[in-house]
Formats: sequence, structure tokens, C-alpha cells
Amino acid sequence: MTTPVFRSNNVELRRGGVPIVRNLSLQIPAGCIFGLVGPSGSGKTTIMRAMMGLGAIHSGDMMLLGQKAGHQSLRRRIGYLPQNGGVWPDLTSRECLQFMASIYRTSSHRVDSSLDLMELTPIADRTVATLSGGEVRRVGLAMAILHEPDLLVLDEPTIGLDPRLRRKLWDTFATWAESGTTLVVSTHVMDEARLCDRIAVISEGKVVALDSPGELVRRQSAVDLEEAILRLLEAEATNVS
Ligand SMILES: Nc1ncnc2c1ncn2[C@@H]1O[C@H](COP(=O)(O)OP(=O)(O)O)[C@@H](O)[C@H]1O
Ligand SMILES: [Mg+2]
Repeated sequence: MTTPVFRSNNVELRRGGVPIVRNLSLQIPAGCIFGLVGPSGSGKTTIMRAMMGLGAIHSGDMMLLGQKAGHQSLRRRIGYLPQNGGVWPDLTSRECLQFMASIYRTSSHRVDSSLDLMELTPIADRTVATLSGGEVRRVGLAMAILHEPDLLVLDEPTIGLDPRLRRKLWDTFATWAESGTTLVVSTHVMDEARLCDRIAVISEGKVVALDSPGELVRRQSAVDLEEAILRLLEAEATNVS
């Protein structure tokens, strides 16, 4: 079996000294679209930040692409869309991408093609501060994909995007995954969770289920993924109380 792109073993993550994520043990193979699904505050962003080396890992170990999370050599190989921000409001979209391209020493063709993919070309010379929420999100996405990373970590990527763009983005994700790129995507939109190859359902910092969407539905004898996930979360809440 090939080495997984992501592997964590018994990881505990804390924020402000408080344990947020416990016993995180996951493996993600290459070319997979992996969904982190769970209610607000369940720990999705905390996990993604730890993958990027942001926030110390309190215990356990986390490896990405054969290196410890946060290792300098990973920067070029990972594209990250943070939940908030990740763009420079005072620059134009094109300038944000050009700046990233100079850091990564990426060809300027990639600036144009990334802007184009995110349908930003007509507004690429407007300052980011003047763009709408969905447009800013697309600038962040264009920045995350610019250097053609092996692994994309996207924290709620489609917030503010209209249904057509959402659809287009997920079609693009599938194409990338087919060509070997690995995507870790957090979402609470069930229509999107359905499109992942595998899902980790997170509740209060714990993975309560790990499976393909189809298998999750089958095991919960649910009519759809939303019902399956709600059942899992309710069962977990009953266990805890
Ligand atoms: N700096 C912090 N100090 C203490 N708790 C925090 C801090 N940042 C986030 N949290 C808490 O960590 C939990 C998980 O947050 P987060 O990972 O952002 O969840 P999600 O992305 O699933 O909505 C929440 O309960 C949140 O309030
Ligand atoms: Mg979050």
C-alpha cells in the first residue's frame, strides 16, 4: 500500500489550553476527496490549522506527505484556504496572486489560469476590499490552487458561492482528485458532503464515523446523508449526556 498523504495517530489538539480535538487517528490516501463534516464548533478548523502547522499538536503525531505537520518543505506542496481571510484586502486579486507566484516562483501563466478558473478575470484589477464575500472567497481559492499543490486543505470553500459556481468547483475538485491531488474539505452542506469519497463526521472534537457517504447512509439505515449524519450526532449526544 502506498504511504497515505495524511496520517495522524492519537492526536490531541488544544486551543487556549483547552483540549478541543481528542484521539484523532486518520489516514487519507492520495487522490481522495476527504470531507470533514460536523456542526459549528466541532473542531474542523482546529484540525485543518494543525495540518498547516498552525497551533501546536499537544500529543500524538501528524504526518503530511511524509513530513511532520508544519515542516517548511510542505509549504510548496500544500494549498490552504483558511476559514476567514487568507487574502490581502489592499491588493487587487491579480496582485494577491502575483505576490504568491513570486514566493512560489510559479509561472505568471498560472496567475492568469487560476483567475480564469475562479471566473475572476473581469474583476482581477479591483482591490479585494471592494469585492463581495463570494468573490473574496474565490480569490482565496485562486491563491490556494495557484502553485498546483499535491494537497489542498480547504476550510468551507464554497461559502458565499452561487449554486452554479459551487457545482463547477466540485466538478473541478473531482478532476484534480482523478489526477492524484488530495483534497481535504470541511463542509456542513450535505449536497457537498455527498460528493466526497470519504467523510469523517466530527462531534465535539471526536471522529464519530469514518466512511464513504453511501456506506454511512446504509449503516444508519437512513434515507439520505443528512439523516445519517443527524442520527450519528444525536446518538453521540445521547452517549455523552
Ligand atoms: N483560541 C481558542 N481558545 C479556546 N477555544 C477555542 C479557541 N479557538 C477555537 N476554540 C473552540 O474550539 C472549538 C472548535 O472550533 P473550530 O475548530 O473553529 O470548529 P469548527 O471549525 O468545526 O466550527 C469551538 O468550541 C471553539 O469555540
Ligand atoms: Mg470552522
